[in-house]
Amino acid sequence: MTFTDTQTIVIGGSSGIGYATAEQIIDSGGDVVIAARDDDRRQEAANTLGPNATEHPLDITVRADVKSLFTEFDADYLVCTPAHIPTGFDISEAQLRKAFDVKFFGYYYAAEAARDVLPEDGAIVFLSGESSVDPQPDYFASGVVNAAVECLTRYLAVEYAPVRISAVSPKIVDTVGMTAEMREQAAEDIPIGQIADPADIADAVCFMLQNPNVTGEVLRSNGGARLV
Ligand SMILES: NC(=O)c1ccc[n+]([C@@H]2O[C@H](COP(=O)([O-])OP(=O)(O)OC[C@H]3O[C@@H](n4cnc5c(N)ncnc54)[C@H](OP(=O)(O)O)[C@@H]3O)[C@@H](O)[C@H]2O)c1
Repeated sequence: MTFTDTQTIVIGGSSGIGYATAEQIIDSGGDVVIAARDDDRRQEAANTLGPNATEHPLDITVRADVKSLFTEFDADYLVCTPAHIPTGFDISEAQLRKAFDVKFFGYYYAAEAARDVLPEDGAIVFLSGESSVDPQPDYFASGVVNAAVECLTRYLAVEYAPVRISAVSPKIVDTVGMTAEMREQAAEDIPIGQIADPADIADAVCFMLQNPNVTGEVLRSNGGARLV
């Protein structure tokens, strides 16, 4: 897989799966622009990623700012990872709306803006999550938003063709905030017996960006979670 002579905008690239994706794209010869809100974390991530990374402040919920990002930077590919995930079933309407603002409307704004600049062989990958198909009370907001993102993926794959739009859906990933106990419990619940590393999900994202024959699909990189 090579990303030589390409630029990828990674919204959410300052942390977790987005950061791992930016790292993998750079290792494969590409340039990245990482966009997120927190200045310190974003700048530190760009510094660590090195000269092939540029950083830009962005709140994905602000449609005009998302549009500006794509007038400022050329892009061959777009990756969107941000989420706002209140837990529990009895959450307020405001919390549920915020979850949709970030992950559904934010991804929609980003794809809409990217459409104006991506080449015909360009691609977009959204992060979803197995809560979309595996209902659990704690992950109600996450589940309904991820289901909306997966549906958005299919519609955009038709509407924005020949640009390809796909999603990657993890179960549990070893990102910030996981305790040893959480890791152990999550690993016990899936057939492969270990939770994903962000690099595993980044691999899946890069595959979906580059495979010329895939669009409108959700790649479930979930350790076999749906089998049990
Ligand atoms: N980690 C898991 O176990 C897991 C499992 C299933 C699905 N997923 C999905 O995978 C995606 C990535 O998860 P992750 O664990 O890598 O998350 P993460 O480490 O929390 O990273 C989220 C990134 O998005 C940025 N972000 C958040 N809100 C934003 C906003 N309004 N505008 C712009 N950027 C924003 C964050 O930076 P700032 O806060 O500075 O903006 C950060 O760079 C999420 O969509 C999540 O639902 C994760």
